[in-house]
Parts: sequence; structure tokens; C-alpha cells
Amino acid sequence: MRKKIVAGNWKMNLGIQEGVQLVNDIIAKLPVFQTHQHVIFCTPFTHLQKVNEVINQTKNSSLHTGAQNCHDKTSGAYTGEISIAMLQELGVNSVIIGHSERRQYFQESNEFLKNKVDALLANKMHVLFCCGEPLEVREAAQQNAWVEKQLQESIFHLSAETIQQGITIAYEPIWAIGTGVTASTAQAQEMHAFIRSLLQATYDEDTAQNISILYGGSCNAANAAELFACEDVDGGLIGGAALKAESFLPIIEAMK
Ligand code: PGA
Repeated sequence: MRKKIVAGNWKMNLGIQEGVQLVNDIIAKLPVFQTHQHVIFCTPFTHLQKVNEVINQTKNSSLHTGAQNCHDKTSGAYTGEISIAMLQELGVNSVIIGHSERRQYFQESNEFLKNKVDALLANKMHVLFCCGEPLEVREAAQQNAWVEKQLQESIFHLSAETIQQGITIAYEPIWAIGTGVTASTAQAQEMHAFIRSLLQATYDEDTAQNISILYGGSCNAANAAELFACEDVDGGLIGGAALKAESFLPIIEAMK
């Protein structure tokens, strides 16, 4: 059975104490998880250690922390960057790679992202790999080719075994991120099925069926259940709605 995942991407929001309070509030009301269900808190770097301590106290193996970025090199003169080993020291086991904000504001190319993916997987880390098209590409009906290129150039060089073990794909249409405009269930399902068909063509049926594909982009308490009910949607990468327990908990509950 594919893993079901709800990941909260806090971006550059919340102080450490606010973050710890949020995680405590969520933990206090968590539903009982099945073994294939997971929640990942992708906090700012500075919060990871404290949030991990809170999570570890629960002894709930469905809860994880994730970073929002990392560097591909092990150490050196990369001012402002963070290495995979540094994240592992904090107890982090997942990293978001290729978020559209990293691509757009920090000029992260498919090739650079490929290097990060390789470094993370060599270190047995779990990658939440983001893809998704801007509005003008959707309007020109070129979204499939756009997403295919992102996947081809950053993750489709991996072996079937490695991609199955280490990668979760998050489809996040840029026009839906932080805009309040959510992809319709039909649009989400269509793209997720397309991504799965690419996995089938590039690898095999087993790989296509085992990789979780999350939806991200204005997913909230009101639309999560409908989106997650789509056959090829295995959960969500949640931005704004992950910042409050009352909006994040119903999304966790929508994960079946
Ligand atoms: P949003 O962000 O839920 O606020 O649209 C999603 C994301 O950027 O991961």
C-alpha cells in the first residue's frame, strides 16, 4: 500500500515557541494513525531540533520533521547553506527539494536539484520532490511537458529501487500556491495520473504504484478530503493551512 502523507511546509513563518506550541496543539488532537499514514513538519532550520524533541516524546513513528532545503556538498565555503549531515544531527529524515519558491527566488535549476537529490539519497534521506507549472504554461496547455521535463532532469536518472525507497513527488501548480485558487479535483487527478504513467513508462508498474504523489497549492480544511479522495492523490503538501492547528488537523484527518 502506498504511504499517505500530509506535510506542513511552514516556509519562513512562526517563531520557535510558536512552532512548538503548534506541534503540541496538533499532537493533543491527533487521530489514531495506521502504519501507512505519516505527518511531516517541515519547519525553518532553527526550529527542527526543538520540534523533533516534542515529536520524539510521543513515540509516534508516524510523525517526522523535514527541512525545506539543503545543500548538496558535505561541507565548505557555502555561506548561508546547510549540509545533510547537519540536518541528520538534528534528527531530520526528510527534505523538500525543488519547491517553486526555491526555483523562482533562488534560481535553483533542474540540474542543481538533481545534485541535491543524489546527495540526499546517498545519505538515506527521504526527498519530497516538488514539481509544477506556472500559470502561463497551464494556459497554453503545456503542463504535462513542463512537469515531465522537471522529473526527467532531476529524478528519473535514479534506479527503480532508489526512487521507490527515497522519493515522494509533490505536484504543486504554481498558480495554486498561496493564491487561494486550488486545482480542481479533475485537474489534480489528471496530473497525478499523468505522473504515475510517466513512472510506469520510465520504470515499471511496481514503481508507479509504490510512489506517493502529494498535491500542494491552497489545499485546506475545506477541500482536502475531496482532493485526497482522488485515486492518484496520496496526501498533500500544505503551506498556509499548516500554520494553525484548527486548519491543519482536519487535513490530517482527511488522509485515509
Ligand atoms: P499553500 O502552499 O498551501 O499556502 O498554497 C503550498 C506550498 O507552497 O507548499
